[in-house]
Amino acid sequence: MWLVDVFHKMRRGPQILTQKDIGLILGMTGVSSPWRVVEAGSGSGALTMFLANAVQPKGRVYSYDWRSEHQEIAKENVKRAGLTKYVEFIHGDIAAGIEQKDVDMVVLDLAEPWLVVPHAERALKEGSFFVSYVPTFEQMKETVTTLRGHRFTRAKAYDYSMREYQVEENATRPENMGLVHTGFLIFARRI
Ligand SMILES: C[S@@+](CC[C@H](N)C(=O)[O-])C[C@H]1O[C@@H](n2cnc3c(N)ncnc32)[C@H](O)[C@@H]1O
Repeated sequence: MWLVDVFHKMRRGPQILTQKDIGLILGMTGVSSPWRVVEAGSGSGALTMFLANAVQPKGRVYSYDWRSEHQEIAKENVKRAGLTKYVEFIHGDIAAGIEQKDVDMVVLDLAEPWLVVPHAERALKEGSFFVSYVPTFEQMKETVTTLRGHRFTRAKAYDYSMREYQVEENATRPENMGLVHTGFLIFARRI
């Protein structure tokens, strides 16, 4: 099955990242094989699948979640995508530390990413990427401020709009409905 079809049919537990936000992460970092990527939380595994697809065949995704019932859903979805051998699931609190060293990217979709910044600083190699997705202004500001107090540069926050158009004879116009806000994406580089 095509990866996007697995994505559309995937079993949902916690809220998944949208394709537009996943696309921005892939495009802003250039994640590819043989990158080693640390991710948290696994959630439903939507982002995990796209990361695993990007780092195969020589890279690896280390996906943390402290709730095993969520991680089981993520494992099932990654298996359906045929990407299991590129993902190692780790059951635990990423704010307690990151086991991996010299990684190419840490990417977070959790409530308090600023607690993970000191651990990401130790786990990431020089020039590598920190990425965090958060829904609110308060979380975005706290994360960027924390990054600026650690060994990170170019800490920037974005949101990304994708509008669908109705294309019909004499009625080509923006669709009435659509997602207005999902979240902010924060990117920084380790120095
Ligand atoms: C919104 S979901 C992630 C969704 C995922 N990005 C996806 O696309 O399917 C957030 C997940 O982070 C996990 N989580 C929150 N804080 C955590 C922490 N400190 N350590 C590990 N996992 C955490 C939650 O249990 C939850 O499964």
